[in-house]
Amino acid sequence: MPLSYDNEYRTSIENPEQFWASAAEKLHWYRTWDKVLDSSNPPFYRWFAGGKTNTCYNTLDRHVDEGRGNDIAVIYDSPVTGVKQRFTFREFRDEVALFAGALQSRGVRKGDRVIIYMPMIPEALIAMLACARIGAIHSVVFGGFASHELAVRIDDCKPKIIVSASCGIERDKVIDYKRLLDFAIELAHFKPEICIIRQREQLRASLNEERDLTWKQALLGAEPVPCVPVESSDPLYILYTSGTTGKPKGVVRDNGGHMVALKWSMENVYGVKPGETYWAASDVGWVVGHSYIVYGPLLNGNTTIIFEGKPVGTPDPGVFWRIIHEHKVSVFFTAPTAFRAIKKEDPNGTFIEKYDLSGFRTLFLAGERADPDTIKWAQEKLSVPVIDHWWQTETGWAIAANCQGIEPGPIKYGSASKAVPGYNVRVVNQNMEELKDGEMGDIVIRNPLPPGTMLTLWKADNHFIESYMSKYPGYYLTSDAGYIDEDGYIFIMSRTDDIINVAGHRLSTGAIEAELCEHPDVAESAVIGAADELKGEVPVGFLVLKSGVDTPHNQIIKHVIEYVRENIGPVASFKQAVIVQRLPKTRSGKILRGTMRKIANSEEYTMPATIDDPAILDEIREALQSIGYAQ
Ligand code: COA
Ligand code: AMP
Repeated sequence: MPLSYDNEYRTSIENPEQFWASAAEKLHWYRTWDKVLDSSNPPFYRWFAGGKTNTCYNTLDRHVDEGRGNDIAVIYDSPVTGVKQRFTFREFRDEVALFAGALQSRGVRKGDRVIIYMPMIPEALIAMLACARIGAIHSVVFGGFASHELAVRIDDCKPKIIVSASCGIERDKVIDYKRLLDFAIELAHFKPEICIIRQREQLRASLNEERDLTWKQALLGAEPVPCVPVESSDPLYILYTSGTTGKPKGVVRDNGGHMVALKWSMENVYGVKPGETYWAASDVGWVVGHSYIVYGPLLNGNTTIIFEGKPVGTPDPGVFWRIIHEHKVSVFFTAPTAFRAIKKEDPNGTFIEKYDLSGFRTLFLAGERADPDTIKWAQEKLSVPVIDHWWQTETGWAIAANCQGIEPGPIKYGSASKAVPGYNVRVVNQNMEELKDGEMGDIVIRNPLPPGTMLTLWKADNHFIESYMSKYPGYYLTSDAGYIDEDGYIFIMSRTDDIINVAGHRLSTGAIEAELCEHPDVAESAVIGAADELKGEVPVGFLVLKSGVDTPHNQIIKHVIEYVRENIGPVASFKQAVIVQRLPKTRSGKILRGTMRKIANSEEYTMPATIDDPAILDEIREALQSIGYAQ
């Protein structure tokens, strides 16, 4: 009998233990759980308490043991180097087991942290799964972050080993990862014992004899090792994400709940069957990469693709279609910004026509709001359902989606569809009153969250409670605002904190402001996310200078742009700043960033009643006009 969304959703909320226990039975456990959900210490809920498992076993060995060892697990397709490689489940298991042996022989044990700072190459996945195999906790840092950001993460999670590569390739630019890594270690107070560097021929790195080993050297003499059973609630990974304080938050994910939720999502949210090819064009440095390049597809026995390229320029806007055609992709997941980039270069979809996409079934978009124009363009050109779905690093998988494996519902443009089973989503006002259909408010999720969502923040339980669990006791605060319509469709409209979304990358304006204020001539700063046709939003900085500064303004602007690039990274896409006399503030001194953003985007706004001096807004408008906004 076909599944009904209403039934599945109701069971998941009314009887979560029964619902998730039956999903967990599809995976391998060394020891069955004592309790499906341990609620004894809220808000620290633990799924499958007492159960013992191993995530690496479930992603690789299980398929080999079940007779699928010769099926393709991983395809590496790198248009920037011209390399294509395929690995069966057995081959990938063997690579992982050997690298796990190399880590173990160098003293890495269950619970130790390993930072992975790598481009999109197979070794990034091998390193992640090798950690999972021996119960070590990986923390992948996105390559577009600069040394300072990497150093902050080193100091926070104190890795025994860092695994990196000599370089990354961004279209035709070679990025010297080793230089960035060396500088990060110099900046960090905590020093890792060993760095393992995958040498790439595009740029070979020089090694620090006392600390560094090449990938090949690390494998010399290593023996493959078996999977180490871990507790269901033992951490699998830490993934840092932008927080409101400027200091990144280390989201901690468990083993048991994570694997159950991701496997379930592959079948039920994405509607993919084992053996099919599923491709998420993201980066392993982001949560999308963790969940849907690495863990989800492999847990479900799908072929996954490591794509080292961009939607355009590697070499053309047809690369996505080439890959879907060549590797027989059934379900594809990317960010709306990638589609905007393709649409800009190939508005008529000429490149789509060159490929046979007959096996391609569904396109999923997430990471930022999918604008209806982009969805309609993709739907028209590809003739497949285009599904917007909403999630966060913290949840690790979709909170709202049009679940293709349960009962696909109608698509409503601008909505991420309905709550996914397991998530009890509500919209509330500041007094914690639930709002009526269509009324906009804070989006919260009633505790307990389903399996796979964050356990806590690394070594910061109090920060976890303060950030997510204290504003509305009993509920998880998503920091997204929006509404739910009469059919249960969720519309995500904006963030309620200082997070902006630049090309699907999550950034904190507070962190950029902190960098701007480091400049000796800058007294005060504000950063807003201004609308951008390609990237959705881009940061724009406002600088108030110290009195008496006579440095030419264009020089100061050039310097602060360099600062942000050097300290946060190129991924911030911080390219525009203006100098103003004052910032608009409320009488209590709060900077009116929301009003500034509306002016930049030429949106209507009401004059804030508490504004200190309304005339400042004219100056802000003129400054924005000088760089092409507020037209
Ligand atoms: N290592 C080093 N540098 C990186 C990097 C990495 N892994 N990823 C990005 N960068 C650099 C880029 O080279 C660029 O540098 P530049 O300022 O010197 O040009 C800068 O960071 C900004 O990168 P990006 O935002 O990716 O811009 P882009 O112009 O190179 O590409 C898009 C624009 C839309 C094509 C690109 O953002 C894209 O493919 N987005 C898909 C969205 C996505 O994968 N989101 C992840 C979450 S789902
Ligand atoms: P990240 O943690 O990087 O995945 O970013 C999470 C944030 O991205 C969410 O809190 C939202 O603000 C935004 N986001 C992700 N997916 C969507 C979506 N489908 N629609 C609207 N916003 C989204």
